[in-house]
Amino acid sequence: MRIDVITLFPEVIEAGTRYSIVGRAQDWGLVQVRAIQLRDFTTDKHHTTDDEPYGGGAGLVMKPEPLFRAVESCLNDETHQLPRIILLEPQGTLYTQSLAEELAQESHLILLCGHYEGIDARVREHLATDVISIGDFVLTGGELPALVLIDSVVRLLPGAIHSAESLGQDSYADGLLGYPQYTRPKEFRGWRVPSVLLSGNHGAIARWRRKEQLRLTRHLRPDLLARAYLTKQDVELLKEIANEEAQS
Ligand SMILES: C[S@@+](CC[C@H](N)C(=O)[O-])C[C@H]1O[C@@H](n2cnc3c(N)ncnc32)[C@H](O)[C@@H]1O
Repeated sequence: MRIDVITLFPEVIEAGTRYSIVGRAQDWGLVQVRAIQLRDFTTDKHHTTDDEPYGGGAGLVMKPEPLFRAVESCLNDETHQLPRIILLEPQGTLYTQSLAEELAQESHLILLCGHYEGIDARVREHLATDVISIGDFVLTGGELPALVLIDSVVRLLPGAIHSAESLGQDSYADGLLGYPQYTRPKEFRGWRVPSVLLSGNHGAIARWRRKEQLRLTRHLRPDLLARAYLTKQDVELLKEIANEEAQS
C-alpha cells in the first residue's frame, strides 16, 4: 500500500510514522508513507497556500490550485488505478473501525491535511473522493487526523501485526467493545485476577470473556449493543447480566 500525505507540516507525519508498527510496516515493505510538502506546488515566490475568504470573515482559507497540483503529482499513470483521495475535515463522515477496514483494502490513499479556517470548497466538491472526520471536535490541522487514519489502517495490513488473532479481539472488531485483559501478578494490592482466567478451562474462559464484552458494551456503549449482531448465546448472557445486576 502507498499512502501520500499532502501537508504544510511533513515533519509531523514523518515523526508520527517512524516508530512502532507503522515504522516496522514501512521497513518490511508493507506500506510506503510519503509526506508531501504542499508549498512545493505553489507558483509564486512567497509559496502562498492560503488567502482571505470571499465574502469576508475571519481567518484564511487554503487555496485550491496547490492542492489539485499536489494530488495530480501523486497519480500513478502506469497503473491507472484511482486512489482514494481523502480530505480530513471536522465536517466529514465520522471515522470508524469499519471504514479503517475498508481503506485497508485499497492500494493507494492520498490524505489532504487542512489548516487555518479550512479548505476552498472546490477541493471537497471536485477532488476528494471521501471527506473524513475523526470526531466531533476541531483540531488545528489535519496532521493528527491523518496519523490516526494511517495507524488504524496500517495495523490491519496482513503481516503488520504478528498475531492476526489479536486483531479479532480488539474493540469494534465484532461491533462490541473488547473484553478486560489481565496479566501477572495474580494479585496486585489486594485485587485478584478473575479466577476463571487461571482455570485453564478454555470454554469457560471464552464464555466469561464474551459475557464481559457484552457487560462493558451494555454499560459504556449501549448504542453499539443496539446495532450489534447477537447470537442466541449472547442474548442468554445478557439476561444473566441483567439478573445479576438486578440482584446487586
Ligand atoms: C481549524 S480546522 C478548520 C475547521 C473549519 N473551520 C470548520 O469549522 O469545520 C483546520 C483543519 O484541521 C483539520 N481538522 C480539524 N478537526 C478535524 C477533525 N475532527 N477531523 C478531521 N480533520 C480535522 C482539517 O484538515 C481542517 O481543515
